[in-house]
Amino acid sequence: MSDGTPADAPRNKRSMFEPDTGIDDLKAFMEPFVARLGYKFNTETEFVDEVLEAELEILERDGDIYCPCRVRSGDPKQDAQIVCPCIPFYRDEFARIRKCWCGLFILADVEDGEELLGVIEEPEGPIDVPVFALEDLPSGQIRHIKIGKRDIAVARVGDEFFALSNVCRHAFGPLGEGLMDSYMVMCPWHGWRYDVRDGTTDHPNSDVRTYETTVRDGFVFIRI
Ligand code: SF4
Ligand code: FES
Repeated sequence: MSDGTPADAPRNKRSMFEPDTGIDDLKAFMEPFVARLGYKFNTETEFVDEVLEAELEILERDGDIYCPCRVRSGDPKQDAQIVCPCIPFYRDEFARIRKCWCGLFILADVEDGEELLGVIEEPEGPIDVPVFALEDLPSGQIRHIKIGKRDIAVARVGDEFFALSNVCRHAFGPLGEGLMDSYMVMCPWHGWRYDVRDGTTDHPNSDVRTYETTVRDGFVFIRI
């Protein structure tokens, strides 16, 4: 059944993109965003322009900058995960292959993006996943980060970073929204306290798991 919209009319056009948006506008929009996630545009500029050209066609047709290689479901919540750049939704997978699926973006420390074009073999073993730039978390604060299906709380005390499960063992409260007091975080729901260094709490058999963190090139990484 028709909703009265002409078949060739653009659907769901987002106001943040002007009708004459071009490749350079997309680059200017995406570059600072992905830089804060530890990524940059592929060094293969011709390839970058081809992908962005395809995204512009999709923008014109569907009103948003979707990845050319993915099919939209029609469910806005689900489709939000494939709006480009989709890096926050697939941090662990992308950290493993050192690029996003399309290869439009590569990790900031990759010098030659050409070697990552196409399908590449995924290395096994632990990986360091970039989560945010140092200045994005002031000392004395804690925040929730999602890496794949894992919910992790990342805390900063001075220049030290700690990562622990975001899920309180009392009644699943969000530790990433808790209050920090030195190395202790207090769950916002009923006040259980955890040591962010090792995930321990005074309550029996209720410690939470922790993750190794590293800091390099101005970024915080979590080992998964
Ligand atoms: S895989 Fe790469 S190009 Fe595709 S939506 Fe994600 S960030 Fe964009
Ligand atoms: S859920 Fe954390 S203290 Fe109750």
